[in-house]
Amino acid sequence: MQRTFIMVKPDGVERQLIAPVLAKFQQKGFTLVGAKLMQLSKEHAEAHYAEHKERPFFPDLIEFITSGPVFAMAWEGDGVIDEARKLIGKTDPKEAAPGTIRGDFAIEKSKNIVHGSDSIESAERELALFFEQSELVGANKQTSVLSK
Ligand code: TYD
Ligand code: MG
Repeated sequence: MQRTFIMVKPDGVERQLIAPVLAKFQQKGFTLVGAKLMQLSKEHAEAHYAEHKERPFFPDLIEFITSGPVFAMAWEGDGVIDEARKLIGKTDPKEAAPGTIRGDFAIEKSKNIVHGSDSIESAERELALFFEQSELVGANKQTSVLSK
């Protein structure tokens, strides 16, 4: 079963959008397998966004993502990596379709509420960067009470 890394950014946490973001993924049918509120260090943020190191927006991005707590999550489900990107919407909220998280909740590209891994490789890398294996529960364990 596929897993992806989703993170509510400091703007989303500050604007009390953790619950609506959670609801979006739950309503779609995906399973939450890990979550925690955390303050990113500069080093952690730079590692997470390493692919953008040479881009002009990188310094502002690192300052923004370390400006307050983020809510890190691991989600599991069939095709969750691509489906989560669809639910999140385009990077620039002005181009993101209504009904998507960014389309509904944001205006600025630099403050677009939520991060989602964009490939199998980045999902694996980002999940490892944010979670110990012991912090992730198996989806089977979570549903076992219901299926008894
Ligand atoms: P990117 O990985 O291109 O977007 P996404 O989050 O949709 O995968 O960029 C990472 C973040 O960097 C993006 O969410 C917001 C910020 N960013 C800017 O501030 N300005 C920009 O021009 C771009 C491309 C991204
Ligand atoms: Mg990206």
